[in-house]
Amino acid sequence: MQVNPFQLFDAESSTFTYILVSPDNRDAVIIDPVDRHFARDMAHIERLGLTLTHVLETHAHADHVTSAGRLRARTGARACVPSGCDIPPAEVQLVDGDVIRFGEREHIAVMHTPGHTAGSMCYLWRGNLFTGDTLLIDGCGRTDFQSGSAGDLYDSVTGKLFALDDATRVWPGHDYKGQSVSTIGWEKRRNARLAGRSREDFIALMAALDLPRPKLMDVAVPANRNLGLAHSV
Ligand SMILES: [Fe+2]
Repeated sequence: MQVNPFQLFDAESSTFTYILVSPDNRDAVIIDPVDRHFARDMAHIERLGLTLTHVLETHAHADHVTSAGRLRARTGARACVPSGCDIPPAEVQLVDGDVIRFGEREHIAVMHTPGHTAGSMCYLWRGNLFTGDTLLIDGCGRTDFQSGSAGDLYDSVTGKLFALDDATRVWPGHDYKGQSVSTIGWEKRRNARLAGRSREDFIALMAALDLPRPKLMDVAVPANRNLGLAHSV
């Protein structure tokens, strides 16, 4: 049975937050929640009658602050983060190949996909792949800070993500053009940065981007290494 996540958006940082709901018992998992939307996200959880069991981060974000710590305190959910992202307050430090179980029979496969940051991870649930900033629709996350590596990102996407079934739905961590979902097959054939490009070409392309430093980076990264709690009032 195809089950889609709830997709929520932060217009300020163009960040997607996802809520995954077990069809059996309304247990739920949230991925990459944004601090300023804590009340909105709690309202959805309460409106839908959900029990939040896990809060997941795809990486330590540089462009927004997470509400993982506040959601954990409010709901009792467990905070799950990539072990390579230096987020010590989270009780679950994930490694490649881990499986997160929720509801009666839901499981989320944990995939370590370094490149955007060294610790970045993707999560696969019922044919839905949550890619964080590793793979975006027709793009990918930048690789020029936070121990990023264009070569690693190329290897993660082409070696791990593009090896998944073509029909796998791609739910990105951001979108800046009004798109919401894609598929592995589509990105394999059409992604402007990665489709049909050699590793060397991709590294050169990423090195030439010359992007500005994220405005919130000095606030967001230290806060996110504490599950957003340093930021919260
Ligand atoms: Fe990011």
